[in-house]
Amino acid sequence: MLITFPLLDERALDRARPLLARAPWNDGRDTAGPQAAQAKNNSQMPRDCAEARELSALVLQALDGSAMFLSAALPARVYPPRFNRYTGAANHYGPHVDSAVRFGENGLRVRTDLSCTVFFSDPEAYEGGELVLHAPDGERSVKLPAGHAVLYPATLVHEVRPVTRGARVGCFFWVQSLVRGAEERRLLLEFDQALTVLRQRDGDSPATVALTGTYHNLLRMWSDT
Ligand code: NI
Repeated sequence: MLITFPLLDERALDRARPLLARAPWNDGRDTAGPQAAQAKNNSQMPRDCAEARELSALVLQALDGSAMFLSAALPARVYPPRFNRYTGAANHYGPHVDSAVRFGENGLRVRTDLSCTVFFSDPEAYEGGELVLHAPDGERSVKLPAGHAVLYPATLVHEVRPVTRGARVGCFFWVQSLVRGAEERRLLLEFDQALTVLRQRDGDSPATVALTGTYHNLLRMWSDT
């Protein structure tokens, strides 16, 4: 299942833009495995520069405040967001799969259940640069307004099509979910969304309280912390 949602508001984007403009950029192949490195041709912001740390904190704060992200991803661990740029000769990332487990600082290990891309560039500012997901039922092409995010199963082969004009700047990260199975996650999201509608309509009626209990009992049954 693929979910898109607004993540960063104008204020957050206004804070991000000057940081993105003055940040240093390295060859994106530095951090790719041998197979992905053959497909990867973009630029990536060094993880430890001041701009990356500030941008990363800004994205993580927005994720914490996003009901859609929390409900859809049920995050247990988030791999620190990385920032990349597609422009000029370094303009695409061919079809590839992401590693199943990502290792980070201080012994961090994240099983990559979900991938997330946040778009920072306005779609009018560049040509091409679609994120294309190769799903079993066909290809899905994603290009979103600045500040919007797409969350998709990390199990899919995916690519970023060549940017032929302008620059596409974005952020990506992986999520290990409390709920490993995609189908269980989907059911919990549907349950939570329907329950939200019922609660808005009926308040905390005996029925909505009982259904809230059922939601949490399913989450308890399916989650690993
Ligand atoms: Ni990837």
